[in-house]
Amino acid sequence: MNLPNRFSSPVAETPSDKQLLINMSQKSDVSRSFGAAAGHYEEFAHLQRYMGTQLLRKTQAVLPMHTRFETCVDLGCGTGFFSPEVAELFGAESVIGLDISEGMLQQAVSHKVDLKSVYFTAGDAEALPFANNSLNAVFSNLAVQWCKSVSVLFAELMRSVDSGGVVALSTLLEGSLAELKQSWATVDDEQHVNSFLELADYRNAAASIGFELLDIEQETITLEYDQTLDLMRDLKGVGAHNISTDRPKHLTGKNKIKKVVDAYENYRLNSGRLPATYQAAYLVVRKCS
Ligand SMILES: C[S@@+](CC[C@H](N)C(=O)[O-])C[C@H]1O[C@@H](n2cnc3c(N)ncnc32)[C@H](O)[C@@H]1O
Repeated sequence: MNLPNRFSSPVAETPSDKQLLINMSQKSDVSRSFGAAAGHYEEFAHLQRYMGTQLLRKTQAVLPMHTRFETCVDLGCGTGFFSPEVAELFGAESVIGLDISEGMLQQAVSHKVDLKSVYFTAGDAEALPFANNSLNAVFSNLAVQWCKSVSVLFAELMRSVDSGGVVALSTLLEGSLAELKQSWATVDDEQHVNSFLELADYRNAAASIGFELLDIEQETITLEYDQTLDLMRDLKGVGAHNISTDRPKHLTGKNKIKKVVDAYENYRLNSGRLPATYQAAYLVVRKCS
């Protein structure tokens, strides 16, 4: 698919500050995994809906009243579910939905939204296709945990956003899917669950590049399932199953899955259901004038 790229920019310089490598995910694996999930993504995206709504609400609460942000981006927009609401949040006539997965963008374009108000474009959050100081606001729901380096991400945001511009992000933190991780640990030593950063890593990366923090919050979210396989189906359904170079390249055998399912039973609640705990983070920052 050829999506028009309406913006161009010099390649971002690598910042000299410490780079926080969160995992060794290959960008092409990320793009392929989300592309494969695109067609049924919305059916499984319960956590994404919840956190996106929370991020809209939290951002609204700290935005200066009656400010219009003309050029805004829904970064890692996926199927564009939140893109029209992002335009509304920032008082903009249109929004640019950017995603690394062309499969997701195809889905967004084919079934989505009022295309007069949303322009979709392919791109990478760590090499944004925007000119310096060209954006007024960025919203990103549950996408930046797939970046390799949070320092590069914030350097790119700082470069692209104009003075007074706002960036609102939600992401997952270490401790997310702890039950699944522990259950896999009883089976083998391989990495089956993605690694995530701490809240302080995001705060420090944003502050050290010069963003002013308007809001930073952590929330523990527990989803409940009847069966472990239902959780695994959800993770696969949104394309968010483990994508790291440490992952086993062979197919995981039925025997191992059965052992994980058995180990996960230790977490069954009195209600009879199985918890899947997420540590969610919400950050709203502003580029100082
Ligand atoms: C869990 S989905 C969230 C989609 C959307 N924000 C929502 O709330 O429904 C994560 C999205 O981030 C995109 N993504 C991952 N890494 C990215 C990157 N480096 N740059 C841009 N998009 C990225 C994926 O392709 C995927 O569409």
